[in-house]
Amino acid sequence: MAYNFDEIIERRDTNSTKWTEYPPDVLPLWVADMDFRTPEPIRAALRAALDRGVLGYEFLQPRTQQVVAARMERLYGWQVDPDWVVATTGVVSGFNIAARAVCEPGDGVLVQPPVYHMFYSVHKNIGLTKQVAPFDFEEDGNVLIPKLDLDAFAHSFHSNEARTRMFLLCHPHNPMGNVFNRDELLGMAEICLQNDALIVSDEIHSELLLNGSKHIPLATLSDEIVDKTVTLVAPSKTFNTAGLFCAFAIIPNAELRERFKKVNEQITGHVSSLGIIAAEAAFSGACDDWLAKLLVYLKGNRDLVVDYLTENFPAARFTIPNATYLQWIDFGAYVKSGQITDTPHKFFLEKARVALNDGSVFGEGCENFVRLNFGSPRSMLEEGLERMRKAMDKK
Ligand SMILES: Cc1ncc(COP(=O)(O)O)c(C=O)c1O
Repeated sequence: MAYNFDEIIERRDTNSTKWTEYPPDVLPLWVADMDFRTPEPIRAALRAALDRGVLGYEFLQPRTQQVVAARMERLYGWQVDPDWVVATTGVVSGFNIAARAVCEPGDGVLVQPPVYHMFYSVHKNIGLTKQVAPFDFEEDGNVLIPKLDLDAFAHSFHSNEARTRMFLLCHPHNPMGNVFNRDELLGMAEICLQNDALIVSDEIHSELLLNGSKHIPLATLSDEIVDKTVTLVAPSKTFNTAGLFCAFAIIPNAELRERFKKVNEQITGHVSSLGIIAAEAAFSGACDDWLAKLLVYLKGNRDLVVDYLTENFPAARFTIPNATYLQWIDFGAYVKSGQITDTPHKFFLEKARVALNDGSVFGEGCENFVRLNFGSPRSMLEEGLERMRKAMDKK
């Protein structure tokens, strides 16, 4: 079936964060949702619920847990017991709940900068110590290739005088779009086991793979690893349902799961009934044809951004994401040369009227980076890039 990802859907008159934060003349290529319509099977399921018209209390039923488990089996051959599946209001609440369930004040939580800024909410919210194992980069021309240094990763455990209690992994990675391979995952997981640290694996982007690469859920690597892992999945990024606030934690370890459920109940209670309905439709398989076409379109958008940057911003450096719809771009050379007079985020916002994510929120030293969201109709993306080029030319 054909889908029209080129259609421009007006969002300025909605409550969209992406489209209402800045004045109407700003083109928003920031917050990580897509400007595409959610696939029809999900909208049909929501419509049916609304047409029935009764919006009373509805809680997670075994049927939805079975659908999540079946998707893990179908996609990864991972045999998940439906009882392991716990609904949360989101992946961010999921990793905060996991931290509250296992960490004591003063414990350390380890993250890998540059990383999705909400990862830094965990230590702040709970009074934990932030520990970092930053990525290295190799360069190939303008292309930045993220490199995992396992020795440095091991050394970052118990840094800043705190016991590392939890490692929060972003897999695939936001903002760099890299997909970890089996050796990398095994390397990190074994170091976590040696240090008795819980692994919380945020796999929200796991179905947005652009190069036919394969996602390996970290928990599938071994029985020892699965026992120490909380896996967080959601339909929200893949099927554009983020506003419905429904995600799932998969926790095979019974004791850990009970602790997690207790905190989940204390803090967030239940997820929205429409979120559950949408998740079930999303994970049922009914949207997989749409997803296959979406990935082709997103790959085209990614290639467009890469080609455009190469041609028009020869001094910029950037990752080539194998997953997600996010591009991580370093405009530092232009800041150095004076062609960009402020941080790139402010410069492009003010001079190009394009909103990108400010790199500084992803980690220290990232103020000359921006994150560009290419999950938009191609004409919109082209316009954004053109505006950015013209702003540079005006200088
Ligand atoms: C890696 C990652 N985790 C979590 C989230 C947000 O998840 P949720 O809306 O389910 O809390 C995002 C959103 O951009 C993300 O990129």
